[in-house]
Amino acid sequence: MADKVLVFYGSYRAARVGIRMARFVVNELGARGADAELIDARDVGLPMLDRMYKEYPKGSAPPAMEQLAGKIRAADAFVFVIGEYNWGPQPGLKNLTDHFLEEWFWRPAAVVSYSPGRLSGARASSAWHPILSEMGMVVVSSTLAVGPIAETFDEGGDPIGQVGAVVRKTFGRVADDLAWWTEAARNQRLRRAPPY
Ligand SMILES: Cc1cc2nc3c(=O)[nH]c(=O)nc-3n(C[C@H](O)[C@H](O)[C@H](O)COP(=O)(O)O)c2cc1C
Repeated sequence: MADKVLVFYGSYRAARVGIRMARFVVNELGARGADAELIDARDVGLPMLDRMYKEYPKGSAPPAMEQLAGKIRAADAFVFVIGEYNWGPQPGLKNLTDHFLEEWFWRPAAVVSYSPGRLSGARASSAWHPILSEMGMVVVSSTLAVGPIAETFDEGGDPIGQVGAVVRKTFGRVADDLAWWTEAARNQRLRRAPPY
């Protein structure tokens, strides 16, 4: 059975570059046999948080929110593609994730990051780890941090040149780590129902 992996990316900028890394992640996971889907927060277009998904009476949440809740519940694992604004999370992605809570529980997640400079979004990546933990995901320790992003991926998400080869190898470790925990979590959910 192919792992269902949702890949989240959350820049709303017209000139956004991180979409290249998001495409790379989806392509790499697909090449490894996973059923990977990009969730682009800008396309989903949730409003600024008013009511969380669970605060809507059953069946009355806005269609985009309802559809995404179903996808999150059905997923085996998540990858978050993280850009950095002032050392922290991008608001579009944070706004999307905050709409949900229980829907995230009991699944592993990986964080990969990027920036235009050499620090590769590492500070925002660190900020996301506790956020995802609070939302009930188990964050794997392997990560990929890329910078400068525009010199590392072309527009289709293909890694460029020698650095690109290193990026592909490093992501392989992230994917292996995530796949191992994905299988472990799925087996455990089948063996014993989550406690809450
Ligand atoms: C409001 C704002 C704050 C930023 N802060 C940082 C930062 O703290 N560190 C950094 O490396 N880059 C920072 N940047 C640069 C972004 O990381 C860069 O524009 C990146 O490409 C944004 O992702 P996107 O292209 O996917 O929208 C900032 C950009 C903006 C617009």
